[in-house]
Amino acid sequence: MRAVSPFIISNLSKSFTMHLRGGLIIPVVERVNFSLEAGKCTVLGGPSGIGKSSILKMLYGNYKIDAGSALIKHGQEQVNIACVEPRKMLEIRKKTLGYVSQFLQTVPRISALDIVAEPLLQHGVTQKTAHERVKELFTLLNLPEKLWHLPPATFSGGEQQRVNIARGFITAHPVLLLDEPTASLDTKNRQVVVEMIEKKKQEGVALLGIFHDEDIRQSIADKIIDVSDFAPLDIVKGRSKNEDGQAA
Ligand SMILES: Nc1ncnc2c1ncn2[C@@H]1O[C@H](COP(=O)(O)OP(=O)(O)OP(=O)(O)O)[C@@H](O)[C@H]1O
Ligand SMILES: [Mg+2]
Repeated sequence: MRAVSPFIISNLSKSFTMHLRGGLIIPVVERVNFSLEAGKCTVLGGPSGIGKSSILKMLYGNYKIDAGSALIKHGQEQVNIACVEPRKMLEIRKKTLGYVSQFLQTVPRISALDIVAEPLLQHGVTQKTAHERVKELFTLLNLPEKLWHLPPATFSGGEQQRVNIARGFITAHPVLLLDEPTASLDTKNRQVVVEMIEKKKQEGVALLGIFHDEDIRQSIADKIIDVSDFAPLDIVKGRSKNEDGQAA
């Protein structure tokens, strides 16, 4: 029997309502269909502004899903992110679904070490063990030791990005979303992240990522999905909708 996919996305749609512009509705993606596979890295491709990050944010529960379903395998159950209760979503984020956003959300006065250790502490790991694991990751990611005990608000873009990556990779989530995790990194650290992704694949994690760098894509992508295929019909070049909303 074929194993159930860790994440099945069917007919997902999203539009934004611009309240400051008289409620103008801007459709972003329609009929998004794909599924993830354990141990594989699926990459979302397509031009800037096409809706790649919006898809990740919908799947992580940051953006409301307008239509369609996103079924995640959470332990023995399958949960639809499109209609999940907030408390369940938090449980899914804790145990099943990891996310490395494009930018680190810094918390005033909390050190880089504690920001990255936090998800482990939530899983009952002692602070001592958690800090050891964080230090290993920081060393791997070449984050200078003098920064470890400082809050990352003043770190450079690449340093913040490495803290963010460490936080997303430190736990053993079976599904991991990555929004341009290598965008601000130099060649050496990009290679480190590529190796960390390879390791996650070997551990059976299903990854969904956005990478603009062609070399990185070539080395890690098992499947590339062109998000332009999900552009709303009324903004696809050469097509328009009539007043009934039917594609003409
Ligand atoms: N919260 C929001 N409110 C209104 N519009 C939004 C919001 N988030 C995204 N958009 C719009 O949705 C579209 C898709 O944005 P998104 O960030 O998903 O693109 P992207 O494919 O990730 O682009 P990039 O490669 O530049 O990161 C853009 O036109 C953007 O302006
Ligand atoms: Mg984006």
